[in-house]
Amino acid sequence: MTPSRSSFVFWCISVLSLLASPTAMRAQLAQTPPMGWNSWNHFRTAVDDPTIRAQAAAMASSGMQNVGYTYINIDDSWQGTRDSNGNIQANSRFPDMAALTAYVHSLGLKIGIYSSPGPTSCAGYIGSYGHEAQDAQTFATWGFDYLKYDWCSAGQVYKPVTVQKMIGAYSLMYKVLQATGRPFVYSIDEYGMQSVWQWGASTGANLWRTSQDVKDDFYEMAEIGFGQMGLQSYAGPGAWNDPDMLQVGNGGMTNVEYQTQMSLWCILSAPLIAGNDLTAMTPAVLALLADPEVIAVDQDSLGVQGKRVWEQGPLEIWIKKLSTTGPHPECSSSPCLAVGVFNRGLGAESIPLNFQSIGISGEITARDLWAHKNLGLIKNGHTINVTGHGAAMLKLGK
Ligand code: GLA
Repeated sequence: MTPSRSSFVFWCISVLSLLASPTAMRAQLAQTPPMGWNSWNHFRTAVDDPTIRAQAAAMASSGMQNVGYTYINIDDSWQGTRDSNGNIQANSRFPDMAALTAYVHSLGLKIGIYSSPGPTSCAGYIGSYGHEAQDAQTFATWGFDYLKYDWCSAGQVYKPVTVQKMIGAYSLMYKVLQATGRPFVYSIDEYGMQSVWQWGASTGANLWRTSQDVKDDFYEMAEIGFGQMGLQSYAGPGAWNDPDMLQVGNGGMTNVEYQTQMSLWCILSAPLIAGNDLTAMTPAVLALLADPEVIAVDQDSLGVQGKRVWEQGPLEIWIKKLSTTGPHPECSSSPCLAVGVFNRGLGAESIPLNFQSIGISGEITARDLWAHKNLGLIKNGHTINVTGHGAAMLKLGK
């Protein structure tokens, strides 16, 4: 290449990289919704190095890793104080963060950490306000791969809280994470304030919480999960709506109700972040968390978030369009659909599939995903029996 041509090529590359938007750079990560585990739902503030190691080992040995769970995320309560140079240190429950991340990496997993754009975290530990670049560098040096950045006390310093102030605070952390040169999945949490789904992606975030915390209670989980209707156009590869973590296995709901959370989260293309004690799961809980056919719906490469297409009283039908080239033998041509059939009522119901509302005509091949059973060809009006608070998941294809 002549010098003038090579300098032209160099100029083009420079201009293109300057033009690269946060969206373009971010899109290389989290092409499908992130899958992993987080300490908060089960362990709250009682989290330490041995607990995190044990959860990581259980993720690997239980088979969860094999179906796609990857991130072991430390939530709030790991933080200590800052040293005389302002560098954040872990508290005494985490004596050696670099050794901990190395251990998790040695299992073939990745590891996440937590901070706040405010001066303190929600549990009262120190946050990253005023130390953003320094903290990003520390997290990178320790070997973390994922940051959850939780608004908490940030309203005390970003006053009055406006969309612009929130975008500024979240974009700042994105930029300093990028500057470390280490890839971080970037998860932002401000509980869905200021319609975050409209601007979350512009900060560089890969996922943004759309709601308050999901409690281990059917009615609260259902209110948040079914309340995601309308947000589907904002999600896609690299950038996801996050209706909060799974409560599956934490004991406050029945396994039928946990199956409903799992089904709905997969139809929603939600991040699948388990929140139970992975070292003490029953086989039934593991089967709910790690069903490969149901997870394939969540992880479908098109990255289309599902939507409600029919409702009658407590009964709802949601559909999610799937790729015809993915792991879906039922679908060699369009349409290829995942269908979630939900019964929010207490008694069992026989729910008819209205093909018109699903957008299909004629007969279609169906598979029951939880039962792992082919149903053969089905027609308009095919009924599905769903127990109270339960869900069925079908795949329909031609
Ligand atoms: C907030 C978040 C939770 C969790 C706690 C930790 O409530 O929404 O997910 O991170 O803070 O204090």
